Formats: sequence, C-alpha cells, structure tokens
Amino acid sequence: MITDARVPAIQVDNLTVSYGPRPALLDVSVAIEAGTLVGVIGPNGSGKSTLIKAILGFVKRDFGTVKIFGEPVEEARGRLAYVPQRGAVDWDYPVTVEEVAMMGRYGRIPWWSSPSAEDRRIVGESLDIVRMGDFRKRQIGQLSGGQQQRVFMARALAQGADILLLDEPFAGVDAATERALLEVLRQARSAGRTLVVVHHDLATAAETFDRLILLKQRMYGYGPPEAVMHEDLLTAVYEGRLRIFGKLAQPEAKR
Ligand SMILES: Nc1ncnc2c1ncn2[C@@H]1O[C@H](COP(=O)(O)OP(=O)(O)O)[C@@H](O)[C@H]1O
Ligand SMILES: [Mg+2]
Repeated sequence: MITDARVPAIQVDNLTVSYGPRPALLDVSVAIEAGTLVGVIGPNGSGKSTLIKAILGFVKRDFGTVKIFGEPVEEARGRLAYVPQRGAVDWDYPVTVEEVAMMGRYGRIPWWSSPSAEDRRIVGESLDIVRMGDFRKRQIGQLSGGQQQRVFMARALAQGADILLLDEPFAGVDAATERALLEVLRQARSAGRTLVVVHHDLATAAETFDRLILLKQRMYGYGPPEAVMHEDLLTAVYEGRLRIFGKLAQPEAKR
C-alpha cells in the first residue's frame, strides 16, 4: 500500500462519459483523500452510478483520467472493490452466501488452485463482520434485501481492497440494517480504507459522510457536508423536486 498521504486514493480529472449524445458526466474533477468516507448525492439520472463505474474503469471515458493511488485505473483494479446497485444483480442465481463472499477472493486465488484455509478464514471473518455468519450455507436468493446487501458487503471486504465503491447500499434495507452497514463502513474507514458511497437520502447524508460529492451531470460541489448541503446548491441540483430546504431536506421524487 502506498502510504504517501499526498497521493489521493482517487483522482478524477476532467472526466466526461456519454452513452448517447448527451454526456452522463461532464468535466468532473475530484481528488479523494485516503481514509475518507465519501457520499455521492444527486437526483435520479444525475450520473452517480456512472461516476462509480468510471472510477472502476467499467465505462469508456470520452475524455479525462482516473488515477488510483497515482496509477491509471487500468493498472490498479485489484485495489478496488464494488458493491453494485441491487437491481444490477441476478438474485436467482443458485449460489450460497459463502460462495458469494468467496468471489471476493477469486482475484487472489491462482487458476490452478482452490481456496486456501486463509481464504476461508477471511471469508468467514467478513461474513461475521456483517453478521451473516449464521447464513453461510443459505442460497442468496432466499435472503431479504438487507441480508443480500450485507453479503455483498462481505464479498467486498473479503477482497481486501483499499477502496470500496458502493452503489446505494442502504436502498431497500430496514433502519437496523442501515445502522449495522454504516458501522461496517466506519470500521473499514478506521482501518484506513477509502469508501465512496452513492446515497439517495439527503436527510441522513450530512451525519453519515466526511465529504459529499453533489452531482448532476457536472459536479456542483465537493467538500464537508456543511459546505455542500447549501440551499443554493441543492436548489440548483434538485430544482422543483426539493420542497423543504436545509439539512433535513428530502427530495420529493425518491426511489
Ligand atoms: N447503459 C446505459 N446506456 C444508456 N444510457 C445510460 C446507461 N446507463 C446510464 N445511462 C444514462 O446516463 C445518465 C446517468 O445515469 P446513472 O449514472 O445511472 O445516474 P444515477 O445513478 O445518478 O441515477 C442517465 O440519463 C441514464 O439514463
Ligand atoms: Mg444509480
């Protein structure tokens, strides 16, 4: 692990990504310090998932660069773990909880070999951290949304990556699970990991994150929540969809 604190964990410069004629992201630049818990906020379709995918190197960039600890993303994929948005996963696929978590180790297991005792220990530990240890042998499709989300978090933890990218991990989970998942994220931060989390709930964004990225195609703000959750900025980004202003503002059109 590079310990030079001057090198950002993630550095995005002048990033533009388009799927069609209109860019999903336009000229986004941001430098994220290692060991930070960052929330990405913005209305539906504002490019939040695209930013996560661009940091992972999953989408083609029209313009701009993404560097991970100073290296081009293409050479640093092993340092990144991803928890996709729930809708993006086929939950009927017949795999157990333990097998899903073990997928986090595959990048480190040679093709001629099977998981070692050490891989199994790490997977067991990761499932315990998210409190899914008792569900090891269950089929993933039989679990509740919150439990599935915790298993995906365990898979990301098992990977041992320095950077975790999570797309709406709290969507469709109950309040108790949200608190438990948040505690897992905070522990990961204490261990020096960097976390970028797409978050749809403005009401809890300020208390949850060290830094916020406010997005709507362009980046409207990046910094401490009190600087980003400003009435002017939120009005510009959420337009008529925001009824109440201030810290407890909630977008009207919530997923
Ligand atoms: N695979 C895709 N093909 C075409 N358009 C896409 C694709 N993914 C996202 N988009 C479009 O890009 C924009 C940003 O999408 P997305 O990053 O998913 O936003 P968010 O996560 O903030 O809801 C939207 O207009 C969306 O319709
Ligand atoms: Mg999204």
